[in-house]
Amino acid sequence: MNAALALPENHIHLWLCLDASINDPDCLECCERMLDKPEQARRWRFHFPKHRHQFLLTRALVRCVLSCYTDVRPEEWTFIQDAYGKPAIAGPEQDQPLHFNVSHTDGLIVVAVARQGTVGVDVENLRREGSTFELANSFFAVPEREWLRALPSADKPRRFFELWTLKEAYVKARGQGLSIALDSFHFRLDADGGDILFDAADSDPCRWHFWSWSLFGDYRLALAAMSDKANVFQVEVAGAVPALAGDAAGRALGGVLPATSFPIFSPSDMALLGASRLRAYQE
Ligand SMILES: CC(C)(COP(=O)(O)OP(=O)(O)OC[C@H]1O[C@@H](n2cnc3c(N)ncnc32)[C@H](O)[C@@H]1OP(=O)(O)O)[C@@H](O)C(=O)NCCC(=O)NCCS
Repeated sequence: MNAALALPENHIHLWLCLDASINDPDCLECCERMLDKPEQARRWRFHFPKHRHQFLLTRALVRCVLSCYTDVRPEEWTFIQDAYGKPAIAGPEQDQPLHFNVSHTDGLIVVAVARQGTVGVDVENLRREGSTFELANSFFAVPEREWLRALPSADKPRRFFELWTLKEAYVKARGQGLSIALDSFHFRLDADGGDILFDAADSDPCRWHFWSWSLFGDYRLALAAMSDKANVFQVEVAGAVPALAGDAAGRALGGVLPATSFPIFSPSDMALLGASRLRAYQE
């Protein structure tokens, strides 16, 4: 069994998986064997193969990632959902709390892992189809709508996705779904995307921390976390492939990559984390 990966209380780990390029049959078979019966049933309810594929890899990724921190095997995890659908670990019981949140969009899965539960992640593919801009914009808070309206047209889509992912990450961290009105809190972003200011009617803004990154050119990723303590979070990012194909341990049920073989990146390296680097890592 691999040595458990350390996750200090004030750290958040982000695991990124470019799922569309993972097609090794051995790897996929290994992932399949990790899913429990309800997950298998849910998987086959997806109409399109690409959605089934992403669902399979999401479930396997969550299981493999969680197993990096303990001696629990990926197929041993059980999960529950709260009243708003936020998944959490049901068992096996852990000495130290372990929490996660998942987001997926066309081509990319992200899993955030932390020791405290108020963590939310959202990723969006900027090339997604549909009239999301107009629709979602009408639910944003007034300052956000005014800010977007005043922007040059060329900047609007990018800044819209920055806001959208931040808002989703916050809603997901709180775990109460869309019972939180999207205009009950708002963000102010500076011109170059550096500073993120936040205000909310029903939550202490000072306790919240936010991060927002552009990723692989096509994606926007946001992370939200709340802490009652003064210690600032440290975020680390790793590329991940559940049950790496060709790896002897990976083929055995429950095998995961040795934790030490995962490259861990700091947020400042995010821009450098190119798709080719991840792909090279998968080979
Ligand atoms: C379900 C919701 C939590 C996120 O949905 P989403 O952004 O479409 O999808 P994401 O891929 O980011 O997240 C889905 C994952 O979040 C997790 N999740 C589900 N309910 C959750 C909740 N209440 N809180 C936190 N996470 C939740 C699940 O793990 C889910 O993935 P899974 O079903 O494969 O396990 C919800 O906020 C939603 O429906 N959002 C869409 C609302 C919208 O239109 N927003 C406009 C812009 S602000």
